[in-house]
Amino acid sequence: MKKLIVLPFLMATICQAYAQQQEPVQPALIPVPVKAQYGQGYSVISKQTAIDAPGELKYEAAFLNGLARQYLGYALPVIAHTNRYSIKLSIDTLLVREPEGYLLESNGNIRITAHDRPGLVHGIQTLRQLWAVQKGGLRVPFATIVDHPRFPYRGMHLDVSRHFFPVPFIKQYLDLLSLYKFNTFHWHLTDDQGWRIEIKKYPKLQSIAAWREETMIGHKKELPHRFDGKRYGGYYTQEQVKEVLQYAAERHITVIPEIEMPGHAQAALSAYPELGCTSGPYKAATFWGVFDDVFCAGKDSTFTFLQDVLDEVIALFPSQFIHIGGDECPKTRWRACPHCQQRIQTEKLSNEEELQSYFMQRVTKYLQAKGKSVIGWDEILEGGLAKGATVMSWRGTGGAVEAARMGHDAIMTTEDDYYFDHYQSLYPSEPVAAGGYTPLKEVYTYQPLPDSIEPSLLPHIKGIQGQLWSEYLPTNEQAAYMLLPRAIALAEVAWSPAANLNYDGFLYRLRKQSPILKRIGLAMASNFDEITYTTDKVLRGSLSFHLHSSLREAVIRYTSDGSLPDKSSRVCSGLVQTGGRNGVLRARLFRNGMPMGRMFELPYYINKATGADITVTNLPSGKYGGPALKLVNGLSGSHRFNDSQWVGFTNNFEAVIDLGSEQTLTRVGANLLNYAWQRMWPTVALEFYISDNGTNYTKIATLDNFPVNGINQARKTVPAVKARYVKITGLHPGTIPAGKYGAGSTATMMISEFILE
Ligand code: ACM
Ligand code: ZN
Repeated sequence: MKKLIVLPFLMATICQAYAQQQEPVQPALIPVPVKAQYGQGYSVISKQTAIDAPGELKYEAAFLNGLARQYLGYALPVIAHTNRYSIKLSIDTLLVREPEGYLLESNGNIRITAHDRPGLVHGIQTLRQLWAVQKGGLRVPFATIVDHPRFPYRGMHLDVSRHFFPVPFIKQYLDLLSLYKFNTFHWHLTDDQGWRIEIKKYPKLQSIAAWREETMIGHKKELPHRFDGKRYGGYYTQEQVKEVLQYAAERHITVIPEIEMPGHAQAALSAYPELGCTSGPYKAATFWGVFDDVFCAGKDSTFTFLQDVLDEVIALFPSQFIHIGGDECPKTRWRACPHCQQRIQTEKLSNEEELQSYFMQRVTKYLQAKGKSVIGWDEILEGGLAKGATVMSWRGTGGAVEAARMGHDAIMTTEDDYYFDHYQSLYPSEPVAAGGYTPLKEVYTYQPLPDSIEPSLLPHIKGIQGQLWSEYLPTNEQAAYMLLPRAIALAEVAWSPAANLNYDGFLYRLRKQSPILKRIGLAMASNFDEITYTTDKVLRGSLSFHLHSSLREAVIRYTSDGSLPDKSSRVCSGLVQTGGRNGVLRARLFRNGMPMGRMFELPYYINKATGADITVTNLPSGKYGGPALKLVNGLSGSHRFNDSQWVGFTNNFEAVIDLGSEQTLTRVGANLLNYAWQRMWPTVALEFYISDNGTNYTKIATLDNFPVNGINQARKTVPAVKARYVKITGLHPGTIPAGKYGAGSTATMMISEFILE
């Protein structure tokens, strides 16, 4: 190992691995039940065991038998009122009062008593998680488990437009949902890049809209876009949809179909261009984004088409809810369209937002007249929410709060926490993903019920849902990689009482899930154990941060001298000081002397601003919020923008840095993120001023050019000046302009570091 040099700038690192925990004795049930008691001894399921179920529970008995056969290799006889050893299934709404609840008893015989048939399936899945294969049968520990869900709505979404997933994968997905007690599958069937459900009245949806000419390669932020030149597509026939619905029904999973409108409609328009404002021609989109060509809200033929489509959808799907999208609909075409403008006049609407509301309300009324209820993304609040509609709050929690205050129901689908197309690891070698950073721990520990909501309105928050958008999921394997284990964490948050949630306990149980996941043919990512860091203390001119891993019996070894950590490198334990000029901290997990997993790398950049006293006006709170020290902690944010290093201003700000004593400055700078595709815009200008008394300031530099589509490391050399105080003002870009992603909303102005040298 190279000798460490301790330099004037010290970097202190605290490392943690969790080798000390006591091994819990509890079976690895996920979601963790409301109450569970375990006894000494086992019930045995064998050739001598029958399933004791009345005729009206024959489907649940068959479901249990189907699972048991996978493990036993044979089916159990189903006999009502038997004297044999049995697994008895029954419904008792007095004994089990909560919807979807069940009581599982194992004491030689096994009995699952449920409030309803979905509850029985949940109890059966718990039994399946409890049993272990032994010679000639299955062993189930003696147990009494009382269980019911926290939220009535527990969903997972899947986008099959950006990439198409065949029926066998959808069945695996449903197996997974059932295993972890989800009750809703949100099937995102239509979007700009492909229409995926057969509609018999409109055959061109199959022959044209289901296909795109080619698909972009890499991330959409990489310009110019590159394409693979391969025709891509597919759709589910109505027979296949029925097969999926049957499979879901056996598991008591509701399938909510989503037919997107008025935006995300380019694939539909490619087949029926007369439904767009300009009448085309259009092509199914070949890259990812939000597109201006949407359904024309002025033409009655649009509504005829959508009603016909929905008629076929309703005939297929027994779900009470139909999802009609409503998100990300640019108004560009509507503003220029005589039909749309005519509609605004005749309906006495004040603008295009109200036209969207008109559109959604008209379709909602149509569905309501057919006895259905409507769900939409939170944009359906804009311009007036249709009566009775349920809101999926994806742009934060505000949509849910607003909906609840209006007496509507809402589901938490927040993009920062429940979008599983976000990166789950900060390691650079992760496969390309949409953006953002939503690690397993974030999913698990995020509190889905916002503090800002009045307690009396909480019953309007029906539940939570994870989203799996598929732009960057070209294969089943990549979809599973992003889904698992995050969906399992979400399942536990959705089902288990908040008081029972414990991340370490969850990880212990999660690690035991691989065999059961293997049975449904899915593998989970294990990168949740990789090294992460947090900062909490930054001293002037030095860094101090913690390295963590949740992997038991592993040590973290690290270097900061440019070498690669090996089994003789320093072990992180407690506070460590290393040489701390600018450089890269490298760390690796070692177990039994063997390196594990990927290398952790954290570049740091220590300068005169590092650790200085800083005050900032208009400092935001929340995900992109303070503390102000983030701006001078020596660490720059990565392109995974919610990595906790970026401050996202929504206003002008003024920062004052006190260097503690007079210092000579020759260069100033800042790191900014220019991600217009993510509503993140750079500042219009940063102005740097100096002062020796903190009162009278002189301007020394302006930074106003941030051309990089990504992280801009803006620097400016200045004639040498002496100063104790540096003031930096940031000019916010305001509202996102028309034609850009998120047009009309406030831009987030992302800054991660101020540099003074
Ligand atoms: C969404 O992510 N556009 C709902
Ligand atoms: Zn129009």
